[in-house]
Amino acid sequence: MSYIEIEYPAEKPAFYDLLNKQLLEYCGGEPDKTAVLANASAVIKAAFSGANWAGFYLADGEALKLCPFQGRPAVSRIPKGKGVCGAAWQRGESVVVEDVGCFEGHIVCDCSSRSEIVIPIFKSDGGFFGVLDMDSTETAYFSDEDRAGLEDAAKTVAGLLEI
Ligand code: SME
Repeated sequence: MSYIEIEYPAEKPAFYDLLNKQLLEYCGGEPDKTAVLANASAVIKAAFSGANWAGFYLADGEALKLCPFQGRPAVSRIPKGKGVCGAAWQRGESVVVEDVGCFEGHIVCDCSSRSEIVIPIFKSDGGFFGVLDMDSTETAYFSDEDRAGLEDAAKTVAGLLEI
């Protein structure tokens, strides 16, 4: 397999269409979940010029456990309800944070991060599986279109994981 550097379109619908195709291209046909998540984090991070961290935390008991990611080292366990990731789990919905300094309880991993988005990943039976977490060094980097697009991408990842 070779990775071809591609230019993503500026228009969000085309951008997310291509991102989904890239996820299927680089993660499809792989039965191992860690391998799927590792390549998915690489594909997602590479697509966003302003992202400094992209990766997965999966539910493990009452905490989220750090799983494949791209970026600086990060906290390895996040209890339910804590930080942005734990809030997304508790609320059962995506959380978009324009300024991490204004989110009470935000857990700092990379001090250059200014904004964040956390997208829950659900199993086909509706149960919670984990989250896709992304950070940016730019304030308000993730828009509502990004939330919708990344929710689609998270569904693509769930499909690839066959969960
Ligand atoms: N900021 C997250 C912690 C994970 S790092 O951003 C990678 C949070 O508050 O849950």
